[in-house]
Amino acid sequence: MGVVADFGELASIAAKLAVDHLDAVAGPDRPVYRPVPPADRDWLIGQPLPSAGRPLAELLDDVASRVMAYPMGNGHRRFFGWVNSPPSPAGVVVAPLAAALNPSCAGGEHAGALLERTVLRWLAELVGYPGGGLLTSGASMATIVALAAARHRSAAEDGWDIREDGLAGRPPLVLYTSEEGHSCLRKAAELLGIGHRGIRTVPVDRAYRMDPGALAEMIQRDQGEGLRPFCVAAAAGTVNTGAVDPLGEIAEVTEAHGLWLHVDGAYGALGVLAADPAPGYAGLSRADSLALDPHKWLGVPVDCGCLLLREPDQARRAFSLVPSYLNDSDADEFGWFAEYGPEQTRPFRALRAWATISHLGRDGIVRLVQRTVDLADRLAELVGEADDFELLTPPVTSIVAFRYRPPVAEDTEWLNRVLPSAVNARGRVFFTGTRLADTEALRACILHPDTTPEDLELLLTEIRATAHHLLAAH
Ligand SMILES: Cc1ncc(COP(=O)(O)O)c(C=O)c1O
Repeated sequence: MGVVADFGELASIAAKLAVDHLDAVAGPDRPVYRPVPPADRDWLIGQPLPSAGRPLAELLDDVASRVMAYPMGNGHRRFFGWVNSPPSPAGVVVAPLAAALNPSCAGGEHAGALLERTVLRWLAELVGYPGGGLLTSGASMATIVALAAARHRSAAEDGWDIREDGLAGRPPLVLYTSEEGHSCLRKAAELLGIGHRGIRTVPVDRAYRMDPGALAEMIQRDQGEGLRPFCVAAAAGTVNTGAVDPLGEIAEVTEAHGLWLHVDGAYGALGVLAADPAPGYAGLSRADSLALDPHKWLGVPVDCGCLLLREPDQARRAFSLVPSYLNDSDADEFGWFAEYGPEQTRPFRALRAWATISHLGRDGIVRLVQRTVDLADRLAELVGEADDFELLTPPVTSIVAFRYRPPVAEDTEWLNRVLPSAVNARGRVFFTGTRLADTEALRACILHPDTTPEDLELLLTEIRATAHHLLAAH
């Protein structure tokens, strides 16, 4: 290495830091999370720009004592917060190699851009979706690409070129998503000029699944008023409860009305691999696009999202813009990834995803998904058996939504609101809350391959103990 003489030695130190961290978080006695003390917090936030550089060895000391010391917690097997998995070991091992190669996967004839095509084919095959697309930073970016492609197609059907003409003077576009649709859908719609007023919130049933009958009525009403319904965004695994919308029935509606069907499977698309949930995914292959985050259930180290489209050219039509300096006469029919989305320079995400999938194999992925789904069922059972807990809906994937039930009903709302941060501060488990049907709810998302049934018991024990403390102090 030209720049750093002792690079090999330093890289070994860095590798040892990674190994030590992964070993430590694997130990059940290590706190899941610990707050950053004020001095280290000030250092993390407030360092002045250095004028002279420092030796790498010194930096690694800082990384060891002040960075590795304060993880988010999602490597731990008792982390149940949001939707954040532990990193796959295969992904961690190859991540520095992607950095060493440092390609831009905008396109071109090199390993990074070519390997991405295999990863996309594998992801599509895993979930039984007939399409291709591109890796993205996450589902938020995948959703922007999907809705842009949907918007472009819908405008073109009306004889209008949205890239040329923009939105002005055209019938307002309308997007449909359920009450449980992820916030990234709203952000994408706002960014694409649909506006909040162009987003319809479709009601859900008791299992938090979109109501297809209500959807059809809303579309007809909007069409009758001269608006331009263009896309339905359904969910295959909502963030609150892991619910899977009735995709087949929704596909009937979108096909009947000529709308684009986008499925947000960012978290839950892989649930199709588990025995009980699988039938609930019928209709997935009829979607025009599917967001699926390998950095969620699959455990590919962040970042790695993915958008698959039944006709990838729909995204290309919405985005392709090849300035002369990027004209690649050697490119094959597929062209460059940069033509399918807004990002030009693109990281080598495919290596982490390829290594993760190669290492687990399809069988290993099925085992991971099935195991976490089974654990969610077990947690639901434990909640159901306890007098002081209430299950809010039976789990279908690996997310369980529930609530603590204090002796006095009036305490339910405030108590469930404060429970997650109070429990997490104790360090033995980590989970997060949400609002469901206008009430406070607790949720646990199980993604770690090493979580045990005893860990789930401990989660409830910790919530119970903390609730007793809070009630006593109230
Ligand atoms: C269901 C669902 N959709 C979309 C997203 C957004 O994905 P990302 O954070 O990768 O952009 C999330 C994130 O948790 C999610 O759970």
